[in-house]
Amino acid sequence: MNDKSSPAPESLDAAFWEQHYEQGHTPWDIGQVSPPIRQYLDGLTDKDLLILIPGAGHAHEAAYLHRQGFRRVMVCDWAPSAFKPLLEQAPDFPQEHLLVSDFFELELQAELLLEQTFFCAIAPEQRAAYARQAAQLLRPGGILAGLLFAEPFEKQGPPFGGTAGEYAEYFSPWFHIERMELCEASIKPRLGRELFIELKKR
Ligand SMILES: C[S@@+](CC[C@H](N)C(=O)[O-])C[C@H]1O[C@@H](n2cnc3c(N)ncnc32)[C@H](O)[C@@H]1O
Repeated sequence: MNDKSSPAPESLDAAFWEQHYEQGHTPWDIGQVSPPIRQYLDGLTDKDLLILIPGAGHAHEAAYLHRQGFRRVMVCDWAPSAFKPLLEQAPDFPQEHLLVSDFFELELQAELLLEQTFFCAIAPEQRAAYARQAAQLLRPGGILAGLLFAEPFEKQGPPFGGTAGEYAEYFSPWFHIERMELCEASIKPRLGRELFIELKKR
């Protein structure tokens, strides 16, 4: 997967992603917390928030939050090798907060879900299920925040793009859309191509 898109693989299962991690081929990984997400995280004051990062991959957001003293950060990824860099960056990250699991099978109640190139990595047919599952994983009033691509891509993904209008249809049944707007702080290759979302569970 890269920002220019590549042909869709036959299957986007855990083995597909695990193979990428095992081969060190992770072109989606920007090597840092994306600046718009970092800005959002820097505004959080409650260090006891239960934060879930689904499809977390190398999970730079989790390492960052851990360094800032957030101790209830859970990461989920179904590729077992994904978390190695997180553990290198934050060796004391709690083992029990590493959830090697299918996002759609998770059962927990978080206060904040962080989205960073997970939604664009799942098949578009799963988007309605993503919105429903994200809502189920949040307490009432909980927030889904992060980044979504702002444009459809010509080639088959991953990544799969989309539009704000399409996203609103998936999320509106479950969330109030507090914010869904182009962000100015994106990394250069994604500037003008990302929406920052802040959705509040109904
Ligand atoms: C494009 S990568 C993004 C990783 C990370 N968020 C980042 O920005 O570097 C998508 C990630 O979602 C994970 N993933 C895809 N489908 C999943 C599912 N159903 N349950 C859990 N993880 C999944 C993959 O293993 C992969 O690590």
